[in-house]
Amino acid sequence: MKIIFKIWRQDSPAEEGMLKTYEVDDLTEDMSILEALDHLNELLVLRDEKVIAFEYDCREGICGQCGIFINGRAHGPHDQITTCQLHLRSFNDGDTVVIEPWRAASFPVLKDLIVDRSAFDRIIESGAYISSKTGSAPEANAILIAKEVSDTAMDAAACIGCGACVATCKNSSAALFTSAKINHLNSLPQGESEAHKRVIEMTSQMEAEGFGSCTFTGACEVECPESISIVNIAEMNARIIKAKIFG
Ligand code: SF4
Ligand code: FES
Repeated sequence: MKIIFKIWRQDSPAEEGMLKTYEVDDLTEDMSILEALDHLNELLVLRDEKVIAFEYDCREGICGQCGIFINGRAHGPHDQITTCQLHLRSFNDGDTVVIEPWRAASFPVLKDLIVDRSAFDRIIESGAYISSKTGSAPEANAILIAKEVSDTAMDAAACIGCGACVATCKNSSAALFTSAKINHLNSLPQGESEAHKRVIEMTSQMEAEGFGSCTFTGACEVECPESISIVNIAEMNARIIKAKIFG
């Protein structure tokens, strides 16, 4: 199988990047897109050229590290999968596949397809934890949690921090990510004592990182591989008002 890759190459944040074309004609449709990049890198090593820098860890849709734009869509042409779960059988023999890093001012390109997503880490550090001193591990059923509450919390907890929501949003808003992390903890009784502080500190950090405002276009929800709902953003906004009144 032949694919004509057009891949963003950029040596450092300070340098300008450009799309470079690579024709690879010994691929198979069973290869994942990351395996195709591995293979291309092997060919580049043999040609004594610089390999393409790209990020991954789990390669099974869990860690959120592999996000890139593929033919203009975050994580490629299919809904609800990550880049590492995309296979070449989604393309035709001879297709051109354009691969670029996330595009957002708060996610500067470090090298080739790798961007700096440490802004997400700082949002997490600002409040996505529970610091109540609870002693030793309590009996699992000591705090009863209604099924619908635990479902809400677990649905929000599914966010893998990939950054597709930011990269897709025309405002580069991190509202979907931040709201998922807030609602995961604020929905549960264990997160209640710090709920007001958490929502104020995490949303303040989100703004300090330079992410844009949410204007509810819904693009983030469409491209999110974990189907995180924008209802989380509405919930976060309501929590901000409550925290300002009662916090
Ligand atoms: S909300 Fe979805 S798109 Fe955004 S970081 Fe989490 S998993 Fe990725
Ligand atoms: S490499 Fe972990 S989600 Fe893709």
